[in-house]
Formats: sequence, structure tokens, C-alpha cells
Amino acid sequence: MSKNSFQQCINVACAAQYGIDEILFACPACGDLLDVIYEWDKLTVPQTLAWFEKRWGTRRNRLDLSGVWRFRELLPFCAEKHCVTIGEGQTILQQSDGAANYVKSKPGRVYLEYEGLNPSGSFKDNGMAAAFSHAQMVDARHVACASTGNTSASVAMYAHACGMKCSVFIGSGRIAYGKLSQALDYGAQTIQIEGDFDDCMRRVQQLCRQKHLYLVNSLNPFRLEGQKAIMYRVLEGLSWQAPDWIVTPGGNLGNSSAFGKAFAELKKLGLIERVPRLAVINAAGANTLYNLYENRGLRFNSGQVDMGAIEAYYAHLNETGYRPRTLASAIEISRPVNLKKCLRALEICNGLVRQVSDEAILDAKAVVGRWGLGCEPASGASLAGLKLLREQAVIAADETVVCILTGHQLKDPDVTVNYHSKGEGKWANRPVKVKDDMEEIVEAMRI
Ligand code: F0G
Repeated sequence: MSKNSFQQCINVACAAQYGIDEILFACPACGDLLDVIYEWDKLTVPQTLAWFEKRWGTRRNRLDLSGVWRFRELLPFCAEKHCVTIGEGQTILQQSDGAANYVKSKPGRVYLEYEGLNPSGSFKDNGMAAAFSHAQMVDARHVACASTGNTSASVAMYAHACGMKCSVFIGSGRIAYGKLSQALDYGAQTIQIEGDFDDCMRRVQQLCRQKHLYLVNSLNPFRLEGQKAIMYRVLEGLSWQAPDWIVTPGGNLGNSSAFGKAFAELKKLGLIERVPRLAVINAAGANTLYNLYENRGLRFNSGQVDMGAIEAYYAHLNETGYRPRTLASAIEISRPVNLKKCLRALEICNGLVRQVSDEAILDAKAVVGRWGLGCEPASGASLAGLKLLREQAVIAADETVVCILTGHQLKDPDVTVNYHSKGEGKWANRPVKVKDDMEEIVEAMRI
């Protein structure tokens, strides 16, 4: 399979091509991001998406069980013998009328895609299944990543499964305990440096270059190939009909980038008729994409991105000593590495960007918890974003919307318990303190 794919620089002025088995993570010629490109005309691609349903009956084959590899014809960069899976992608798309009611949409129009059901509890496993397959293909021995928590948990799990060494870089004090506990438990070498995610990201790139480690952040184009499968499963959950909108939180912007590529390819292959619109939601305390896209009008512009505008924005962040701050620690990122690819996705999907406050995020998260399987704070940004877009009448009440819930409820118990215990939030479910006395207990229970 691997013969009909290659890596290509996304910079249209460069467009340099590299072999599929090269370990790069940035274009050696110009430093820009890389894509995985397929020569579709030389590959066998199913004629309809419904074709993939035949894999439902062959789940004893580990690749057909995987929610990533059962779509392998749509990410055919490696031979089956290299494909890594630990059972990722057994997720559900749940119709949530509780959420629909919260955002004043019509019943039956709001769906929640529970990526927290993955083995390590977040969507990252989709990407790692693909990145570790490439890592096996090129015989990598030692992987590394920077992380706000979920990447490190997922990487640690897959590295263990593949027998590879793994080093994860996290910022000091900026990681939810559920995630840190996973990285430690799964045996990752955990390096906590003074600084935040952006500092870790810069450092780990240097380190991977100097010491030839295999980088598994979403700069790795193979990771994004795996994350395309989230959209395939959303379509599967909707009987292969595209929704009107996908709403997703934005941090390092890997997911949004992958979603855009997935839809562009599906359209090109004639497997969908219509591309859904994409809404990327920033936390207000980490709103680089929102500022650049909505306030400064930065666009992909068919590949002619105004890099000067991005550089000026980052220079301004440096000058003012800006540090992102949000309770949704997973998306506390101010220099998203996939910015350019996300701009491309927004162009493909006629997208938009919104920012939401921590308060709105936590209320939405509580609503998801009340009427569903729960999620972590960053995931709550999706529903909070949808609520805002409904209030702004950008999304209509009868449009079909899928909110991506990127991480499991148990990832960040501190934020959840604080929200409910303090009782300030609209959906707080305060624990009732009472003496060990029958009468008082019964009175407190109001029964
Ligand atoms: N939601 C969760 C739960 C995440 O962990 C992340 C990213 C995002 C959303 C943002 O996704 O980067 O594709 O825009 N977490 C990374 C990490 C940065 O290190 O775990 P994105």
C-alpha cells in the first residue's frame, strides 16, 4: 500500500515531496507543515461509505475492530503488518436532547461524539494508532511528545504496546491529575519543565531533531491521518449523511486540521456530496485562533497565508509576556502548531471560530454530565460554542450539529468537584453536608 503515498509540504510555493518512510515532521526545504498525500487513482477505494459496514461482521480481525483501521482504505500509508491498534475508536455518537434543549435546538438535532470512550480516555488514540504504525514502519525506538496531558497518556499507552521507549514533556503544574497519573502508570519517562505547553512543544522539537527521537505530536502528519477516522465514525453514526455542523474545541488544532482533510478527501473521492461546516471553539484564555481568524481576518487564502500577520501576533504575545490561562487545561495553548492546516480546514468547511469563557465551558460540561456520559472541561467548549452560535443565530434550531467530546469525564476530577462543591455554577450539584443523625439526614434528603 505504501507505494502510492508520499509526504508533501503544505506550502504551495514549496510543495516539496518526500518518501512515506522518511521521519521529518517539518519540510526540510522550508520548515512548513507536511501532509500525507495519496495517489487515489492507483489505489482501490470503496465506491460508497456504506461499504465499510461489511467490517462490522468481521470484528475478530483486529484491524476491523479498530475504529481507525476499519477505514484503512482511506488512510492507506502503511502495510497491514505495520498497523498498530489497541482497540481505539469504539466510540458512540449519541443523540442528546438534553444538550439540544440547553442550546435551544430542536430535539433530535444535537449529537455528541464521545471520544472519551477510547482506551486512554481521549481522541488522541485515533492519532496514535496511525502515528505508531508509521513509527513501526520506520523502525523507531524512542518516541517523544509535549503535552497538556492527553497526548502523554495516549503516547505512554501505545509506546508500551509497541515496546518503544517514550518520553513526555509537560509544563509545571499545568496538567490534570487523571492524565498525569496515566503517563506515570503506563511507564512514560515524564519530564516536567518550568514553563507551559508552548515551551514544551518548542523544546521537544529541538530534542527530536538533535537526538533523532520520533515525535508524536500532531506536527506528525500520520497522527492526523488517524484522527480523520473520528469524522468517518460520525458519518457512520448518521447513516453516512453529513451533518450541517461539526463543533470542536481548538487547542493545538490537530483535530480541526484532520477533519478538514478528511472531508476534502471524501468529497474528492465522491464519497460525500456535501461538506459540513466547521466551528472551532477556543477558550477565551487561549484564543490565538479566534483573534487571528475572527478579529484580524487571517485566512488560508488558497495557501497564501499572511505569515507576517502570524509572526507579528506572536511577537506581540512575547512583548506583553502573555501566558494562556484557562481551566480547560487541555487547550491552554497560545502557539498552535497546526494553525496553517486549521486555516485550510476552515476554508474547506466554510468554517468559523468562536471563544467561550471558562464559566460557559464548565456549565456546558455539567450539562453533558447531567444528560450523558460526561466529558472533561476542554470538551465542554464544544457545547458552549454551540450555545453561543445558537444565541448568535449562526446555527439554526433545525440544523444537525455534532459536538466532539474529546476527553473522558474522569480526566480532570478537580475541576469537576470544585464546580459542584462551590455551587456557583448554574448546574452545580452540591454535596449536602450533614451530621450522622437520622433525623437530620432525612430532613436534608427532603424525603
Ligand atoms: N480536547 C482535549 C481533551 C485535548 O486533550 C486537546 C488537546 C484538545 C481538545 C485540543 O485538540 O490540539 O487537536 O486542537 N490536547 C493536547 C495534549 C494538546 O497535549 O493532550 P487539538
